Amino acid sequence: MRENRSLWMDTAHVEPFGELTGNHETDVAVIGGGIAGICAAFQIAERGLRVAVIEANRVCAGVTAYTTAKVTSAHGTIYAKTDQNLGREYARAYADANQWGLEWIARQEIECDLRRKPMVVYAENDDQMQELLIEFDVAKRVGLPVEWIPEVALPVPNLGGILYREQAEFHPRKFVVGLARKLEQMGSKVFELTRALEVEEDDTVRVRTDRGMVTARYLVVASHYPIYDPTLFFARLAPYRDYAIAAKIRGPLPPDMSIGAGDQSKSFRTQPSPQGELLIVSGVSHKVGQADGRECYAHLEEFTRRYFDVESVPYHWSTQDNESPDKLPYIGRIRADSKTSFVTTGFNAWGMTTAAFGGKLLADLITEQDNPWAESFSPGRLKGWEAIKDVLKENLNVAKRFFGDKLTDVEPMSLAELQPGQGAIIIHNGEKVAAYKDPAGQIRGVSVACTHLGCDVQWNPAEESWDCPCHGSRFDPDGKVIQGPAIHDLERKL
Ligand SMILES: Cc1cc2nc3c(=O)[nH]c(=O)nc-3n(C[C@H](O)[C@H](O)[C@H](O)COP(=O)(O)OP(=O)(O)OC[C@H]3O[C@@H](n4cnc5c(N)ncnc54)[C@H](O)[C@@H]3O)c2cc1C
Ligand code: FES
Repeated sequence: MRENRSLWMDTAHVEPFGELTGNHETDVAVIGGGIAGICAAFQIAERGLRVAVIEANRVCAGVTAYTTAKVTSAHGTIYAKTDQNLGREYARAYADANQWGLEWIARQEIECDLRRKPMVVYAENDDQMQELLIEFDVAKRVGLPVEWIPEVALPVPNLGGILYREQAEFHPRKFVVGLARKLEQMGSKVFELTRALEVEEDDTVRVRTDRGMVTARYLVVASHYPIYDPTLFFARLAPYRDYAIAAKIRGPLPPDMSIGAGDQSKSFRTQPSPQGELLIVSGVSHKVGQADGRECYAHLEEFTRRYFDVESVPYHWSTQDNESPDKLPYIGRIRADSKTSFVTTGFNAWGMTTAAFGGKLLADLITEQDNPWAESFSPGRLKGWEAIKDVLKENLNVAKRFFGDKLTDVEPMSLAELQPGQGAIIIHNGEKVAAYKDPAGQIRGVSVACTHLGCDVQWNPAEESWDCPCHGSRFDPDGKVIQGPAIHDLERKL
């Protein structure tokens, strides 16, 4: 993981939580200690239930530690698309839920550098301008705090856009860890370095981990990509990787948070740090395993230098999020008839407010309270031609990777040809091996078949990891799982 240096990981000192030792019984087991799992666990515990969070790594060391953490309802052109594809009630539910999530985060009184600021979605060309005018109209109609501004205070060329008043930005790791501490003070448990391996459910739920069994009345799967998947989420989630840098700038910084309306538009915010106020720029997105991350970083830095006087770039990092076909999250019962198991996933790169309102929705479902957003975000929804069309398109792309990898010949590289610092699929003794030669010349080889569903992994030279293009699992050069849905390590071959 050579190049990933996250500002959030570097600037939050975190004392470890405990690990599971033996078996544990609780009311609710939550798999995943990122923002989704901790927001859900906290709001469930507020209803008087005991919760145990099971986290494979450290609290908030996954995707949430590599985000850009704009806490906002301004999500590109989501309201116009939702209005058109699913109807006004879905657009209103998404608006209400996100505004609720924003305000909920703001009132938690956790020391996390939270600042209230406007967030702007801006147009870079006439086509985006037309889209944004429709978005503005729908956003107003569903009650969002928006106004049109003819020019955005950014050196990047723009034609103006939609300003959302009173949004927020924060330090995600300080927030999530602070909330997890409060959760433990309420009598619940957070188990770090404890990997969930298997789930069994009937009237109760049993989560087998690598350190013991957790038995509970309810389960929330908040592992980002669901690691327990009885209803084939893998067929309706697509993982996209995105890149960010934090730069020290000479001269003025943008006063507001902002994002362009295009697919590859950049987003901007600032953050106080021991090195002064830094500018965070993100926005080079690709399907996992389908681009060279080094080029993405180079593009982002070149773009930033074009418009700002960059003194240094102390941080750059990347991570991935899962897209649903209709761009709304899946939050609710894991199966329509499940009384015990729930899921929160598919945040479409907008997980801060979504995790917060998702926590309320899950707490309401578990305690059998009505919730106005339940139907809109139900994992069982999916209607409208646009949604179905996109599922087909995404699945074709995944299928191409799946079968393409299996059916075409790999490059005829041999072990001897592998250069120091290089990773590649090689043929060794007639078998395909995912091999990496470190700068000192030591070779590590692992199975090419991802332990989730068997797609061939690809070398990611920017992060020095084996990434699976199908559903986004990632493994280190020794084959150890970095990110799910895979649970098991790649088999060692060399
Ligand atoms: C570059 C980028 C920028 C973004 N910027 C923004 C933004 O500005 N605003 C915004 O709202 N959203 C943003 N997002 C989206 C947001 O970061 C994510 O949606 C959110 O962080 C996901 O949170 P999570 O809790 O689901 O995932 P995670 O933080 O990854 O948490 C899941 C946890 O589950 C654990 N886990 C996995 N498998 C197991 C297992 N078997 N057993 C136990 N634990 C397990 C993992 O270790 C991990 O800690 C961005 C996304 C990207 C890619
Ligand atoms: S992540 Fe599903 S096959 Fe690899």
